[in-house]
Amino acid sequence: MRVSEARQWDRLMQMARLGAIPGDGVNRAALTDLDQQSRRLLLSWAMPLGLQPSVDALGNLFLRLEGTEPGLAPVLAGSHMDSQPKGGRFDGIWGVLAALEAVQAIIEAGIAPRRAIEIVAWTNEEGGRFAPGCMGSMGFSGFRPPGTWDDVKDRDGLRFGDELARLLAAESDIPRRPLGFTPHAYVEPHIEQGPLLEAEGLDIGVVTGIQGSRWFLVEIAGKTDHAGTAPLSLRQDAVQDMLRAINALNALMADPTDVLRFTVGRVEVFPNSSNTVADLARFSIDFRHPEAAVLTERGDAIAATIHGALKTCRATVTETFHALPARFDPAIQAAIAAAAQAEGYGAKALPSGAFHDAQFLVPICPTGMIFIPSRGGISHHPAEYSSASQTARGAQVLARVLVQLAAG
Ligand code: GLV
Ligand code: MN
Ligand code: MN
Ligand code: MN
Repeated sequence: MRVSEARQWDRLMQMARLGAIPGDGVNRAALTDLDQQSRRLLLSWAMPLGLQPSVDALGNLFLRLEGTEPGLAPVLAGSHMDSQPKGGRFDGIWGVLAALEAVQAIIEAGIAPRRAIEIVAWTNEEGGRFAPGCMGSMGFSGFRPPGTWDDVKDRDGLRFGDELARLLAAESDIPRRPLGFTPHAYVEPHIEQGPLLEAEGLDIGVVTGIQGSRWFLVEIAGKTDHAGTAPLSLRQDAVQDMLRAINALNALMADPTDVLRFTVGRVEVFPNSSNTVADLARFSIDFRHPEAAVLTERGDAIAATIHGALKTCRATVTETFHALPARFDPAIQAAIAAAAQAEGYGAKALPSGAFHDAQFLVPICPTGMIFIPSRGGISHHPAEYSSASQTARGAQVLARVLVQLAAG
């Protein structure tokens, strides 16, 4: 059983044309026309292999290789096809194409798996257009009810619920299936998005788990005024209070061990005019830590810290995402390590700093992830790169792991 390096690379490069941006980047936001086109392209490769497509109420797309015992719970493998606004050619999409390549290698080797193997493309993992990310996998696993995000709007005011309905209408030729089932196991291949594998010249990361994440949306409401006439002492300046809030948060999040991650990545100011005092400032918080206790203690202190820091304005703080730290199944980790060793690939165990759909599968089935090296550790950037041979090695390991899991 051998995956094809050339075929997988060619597919990756064809996908990269959908939403291509300067510098080899990709901008393919969830539920856009480009997202629909990428799904059609995937189907154009899967259908000739005899894989059975289906789509659920959240737009999660499945491609099923039937097993010899169709009643058994299937093995699931895949990732996401949406990208960051200034993303690269590999984050997410490689995991879906690696699953396709592995399944194709299994078919070509004449292996008839006992359990069905299903490739999955989860809806809206990145959260760049509709926040938060991982909506497809959160809804699938029952972590949140499917209607939770219907009213979330993108920058153009389009609703998630409407854009999802548009996608499902465009895919009315694909059989619908009920949302959620219990897989036998889930394996997600992904680029590392960090520098560790490259630094040690290794091919495969056996992912041990994922740190927890909490996202918040903060809105600070003040009062608009004329920049030339309103005395500072009488202002309710939303920008100035936003700065006070962020400074106080930096103090709350101080961590001498440098393990904690705290990011204000998105800031909006209204009316956004040089000579008008802003009456609304909005910013995002992305807070991560591998320990649930730290995530709870400091995360729960965020709202009070903001309220305590404001001088003249009022704030509303909304938590939009809460992913618990996840530990992957030891048997799947062992299977990945054994597959790498059998192929003669260098591998090491490592945790994931990025969140992934796999985090939400952990509570419902044995779950694991396979990492491949990221050049320079770069991701969420057009310069994101993993070589053809690195992507092939990752898919080869996945193929072995899938054969083993589907026999069990
Ligand atoms: C996923 O893209 C993350 O932000 O970790
Ligand atoms: Mn990803
Ligand atoms: Mn990403
Ligand atoms: Mn991600």
